[in-house]
Amino acid sequence: MFISFEGIEGSGKSTALSRLCSLLALSGRAFVRTMEPGGSKLGQSLRALLLDARNSIGPEAELFLYLADRAQHVRQHIRPALEAGSVVLTDRYADSTIVYQGYGRGLDVRELFRLNELAVNGLWPDCTLIFDLPPELGLERARTRNREQGIDVSEGRFEAEALDFHRRIRAGYLDWAARHPERCVLVDAEASPDAVFAQVSAIVLPRLGAVSE
Ligand code: TYD
Repeated sequence: MFISFEGIEGSGKSTALSRLCSLLALSGRAFVRTMEPGGSKLGQSLRALLLDARNSIGPEAELFLYLADRAQHVRQHIRPALEAGSVVLTDRYADSTIVYQGYGRGLDVRELFRLNELAVNGLWPDCTLIFDLPPELGLERARTRNREQGIDVSEGRFEAEALDFHRRIRAGYLDWAARHPERCVLVDAEASPDAVFAQVSAIVLPRLGAVSE
């Protein structure tokens, strides 16, 4: 079972993912938690390049760096873990490229779909949770978190984008989710952390079978 977590900056997906992992660990269920960019050793170098607000990166170069990160991530970690029977939970995956580089940067979405297919050799998640909230709210949360952790420059390239960009990302996720109802489920991320986690549990746990809260 392969599950991805998606959403705009500051949507609370990583927090919900951490809670879910604690629950799964308690239940003894084998799982792998991972993320993009940066889910492999090569990817960690790519992540530093991609997120540093001091780097100026054109849309095409940005696209190929994310695809390189993903190709390595799938080959080295995700596919082997799935083949070993593990549940894989990833913080962002191919839908981020469709939405950020497509709806956000204006690259052709159908082309991005094909390039993703090539990068991951056809591996799409069984289920994708899309955390939805107004971008004003998410950005405020993300910028505050980055300032507090002192990573507003080293990891702030996307947080520095104008609100308009983040509005396109939110609308892009909603549009893309509506086109893939067989695997995409929306999470109301404006709710309290407990209410958000209740939604996540209700979506994920039944798909994992025997795990209960
Ligand atoms: P990260 O710090 O992991 O952000 P978050 O906590 O919001 O998940 O940064 C990842 C950034 O990279 C995020 O702004 C979205 C962007 N991104 C893309 O533009 N395309 C992609 O394919 C991926 C995986 C991420």
